[in-house]
Amino acid sequence: MGFDDSAFIRACRRQPVDTVPVWFMRQAGRALPEYRRLRADRPFMATVADPEVASEITLQPVRRYGVDAAILFSDIVVPLAAIGVGVDIVAGRGPVVDRPFRSGADLDRLRPLEPEADIPHVIDTVKLVTAELDVPLIGFCGAPFTVASYLIEGGPSRDYALTKSLMRSEPELFGRLLDRLADLSVAFLRAQVGAGASAVQLFDSWAGALSGADYRRHVMPASAKVLAGVADLGVPRIHFGVGTGELLGLMGEAGADVVGVDWRIPLDEASRRIGPDRAVQGNLDPALCLAPWPVVEAEVADILDRGQRTPGHVFNLGHGVLPDTDPEVLARVVERVHKGPA
Ligand code: CP3
Repeated sequence: MGFDDSAFIRACRRQPVDTVPVWFMRQAGRALPEYRRLRADRPFMATVADPEVASEITLQPVRRYGVDAAILFSDIVVPLAAIGVGVDIVAGRGPVVDRPFRSGADLDRLRPLEPEADIPHVIDTVKLVTAELDVPLIGFCGAPFTVASYLIEGGPSRDYALTKSLMRSEPELFGRLLDRLADLSVAFLRAQVGAGASAVQLFDSWAGALSGADYRRHVMPASAKVLAGVADLGVPRIHFGVGTGELLGLMGEAGADVVGVDWRIPLDEASRRIGPDRAVQGNLDPALCLAPWPVVEAEVADILDRGQRTPGHVFNLGHGVLPDTDPEVLARVVERVHKGPA
């Protein structure tokens, strides 16, 4: 692997680094005018399916911000679409599913993913990007629970009522659904690493909606299956969710090398909950990037300071870049992180 000596991979492995590595979730996206220009009138899914455009979008934030890693431009619902589940990304809303998951019969619509046949464009995008990049590329997938929430709710949700209701009323069916989605995610990640990605991130964005007990019983086995399913590849595995203060220990136990942390909990306290055997990633509140620079700077400095009291720190936001963020602020954050703790 060519990036073993990079700050990003070293920090993920809890090895000493000269400068704290930094990248941003949703760094490729609407905060960048060059992204908006490229997207213009192209539908999201068509953009993902075009390796020339998708690779350019992946590279844009690396050039603009000087981040220490790129993340593939794609989406967590791309594997679902690739196996024929009717799902689209609706502008300003998110993934919308034609026929939501309701019963055991719907399991048959979730066939295995065959990457060479189903997502050749993703493989081609990874190859194009990694040929250009001088920093590691992060591959990613959705965690089974978060993907299931879109399948069951039919779209974005505030309370995950249908998802939680199915989880508790038909735990066996829910478990089979998550197990299938785990297989899909493993195939999606393995294809990305096979084509050149140097690390992977499992996005369980909505896991924070669950209690620890529900997470452990109904969700953790499937996420652990995804993380175990790529363990032999030897690339760092990042496990991320939002509002997961009470789940951080379990998310680490699920098999991650790095646990993503949002802004609701101080980074050093998060690390204490996760334990000494894993690095942490985070945790600047993306909303603060819209505040005046001194506010941002003070927060970045505090996070860097806390990061020193963890076994390994990858600087990031606590969730994705907000669309109204001034790209200039993110460039300054990168510069400030690279200067290091005071
Ligand atoms: O820069 C990157 O982070 C890489 C690309 C990426 C996208 N989606 C592109 C995208 C990644 C890693 C994702 C993951 C993803 N997708 C997650 C997990 C991360 C998170 O934010 O919690 C989730 C939950 C999804 C599902 C999804 N896709 C939602 C909720 C939305 C709507 C968001 C919105 O604000 O419109 C999408 C669409 C999407 N995926 C966009 C982008 C750049 C916006 C679409 C557009 O530009 O028109």
